[in-house]
Amino acid sequence: MTTSLDEQARNIMRRNDQGHYTMPTNGLYPYQWNWDSAFAAFGFATFDLGRAWVEIETLFSGQWENGMVPHIIFHSESSGYFPGPDVWGTEQSPPTSGISQPPVAATFTRAIFEQNPEVGLNHLKDLFPKLLAWHRWFFECRFENGVIVVNHPWESGRDNAPEWDEAMGNVDTSGVGEYTRNDTSHVDPHMRPNQTDYDRFMAIVYAGRDCGWNEANMSENGPFRVADPGMTFILLRANKDLLALAEAVGANTSEIQNWIQALEAGVQQLWNPEIQAYDALNIRTGKFAGSMSSASFLCWYAGIQNETALIEFNRIAAAVKYTFPSHDPDSERFEPFRYWRGPAWGIVNTLIGIGLAEMGHQAQAEKLRGDTAKLIEQSGFAEYFNPVDGSPAGGMDFTWTAAIWLAWASPSLQIKGS
Ligand code: DGY
Repeated sequence: MTTSLDEQARNIMRRNDQGHYTMPTNGLYPYQWNWDSAFAAFGFATFDLGRAWVEIETLFSGQWENGMVPHIIFHSESSGYFPGPDVWGTEQSPPTSGISQPPVAATFTRAIFEQNPEVGLNHLKDLFPKLLAWHRWFFECRFENGVIVVNHPWESGRDNAPEWDEAMGNVDTSGVGEYTRNDTSHVDPHMRPNQTDYDRFMAIVYAGRDCGWNEANMSENGPFRVADPGMTFILLRANKDLLALAEAVGANTSEIQNWIQALEAGVQQLWNPEIQAYDALNIRTGKFAGSMSSASFLCWYAGIQNETALIEFNRIAAAVKYTFPSHDPDSERFEPFRYWRGPAWGIVNTLIGIGLAEMGHQAQAEKLRGDTAKLIEQSGFAEYFNPVDGSPAGGMDFTWTAAIWLAWASPSLQIKGS
């Protein structure tokens, strides 16, 4: 008898489960990653609600005093990943990286809570102040001119996306020196960021470490400071979910309401009329990136309608076999296999698809869900996929792809829901 894809997905999550957190995949990513864990909790909630709460609670065990929730928490030792805790030098316990990641945790916490509010309320009472402190950190340390900025492409989660090219071109790599990447020994180098990007990633890490990860210093002098439509839309959406959680625990909502208003107004500044998309903006130079990426299509997820974006969505969907490519396939910078420069990502499809469905664009939402299901049925639980031919890319047996299968893409959900 063959194992169903639902069962395969649960098995992947169980195998990657380290007891209180889940690694994204063995080898390539052996620690706890921030948004990976929030997606994992979303997946766990379909078959083990208690384990879903543990995943989020463990993520917040790495929260800094200033409220930041770091992008990696190094709970245990492993030689398989670079840059490890010694390179970040953050002096945290447990050791962590020095930057954050897209704040999807409040959104999935709400989903988990609403599945069983009676069980969830005690968890939520403890977690809510931590979520609030993290969101407040974004407004204290990553909010400029009405939008959310990132200090490192890794913070956006879309490491080597073309929207960073212009700003990355100004990063001085002369002090980077020798180091050994581990990612390219786990995965075909053609699917990973190129060496020039990696040198720049490391230069930005060293600059943060050299100033003791001091936020004021990084904001003033850091080599990379770019406004990101992806982070802005994701935090806007997360604030709306945080507001619902605040009501559930009887907390004051005025601060959160102000954040929502500020981002709703501010994000329109990232609309680049030249490319008809929400675009990244380099804070240091005032230049738009000129890059149409999947981040632009998170507008619906944030509750923002945009007819032009819908036209562009339809154009891009017609240009590839499997939606949704991370970069415009009509652009000369499109690379269907290289990480965030073209491949389709199940997690981004999930966020865009949730937004499209909520905002009344059912046909597009179903197209994304159907394509995601086909990709996984044909190619397995890969980290990401080539949107032109559907082949798998990056790490395999990937936690977040298994999680979104269980919570969003699996056809068995339709059967249950119908
Ligand atoms: C990596 O190492 O590839 C990660 O994306 C950084 O978090």
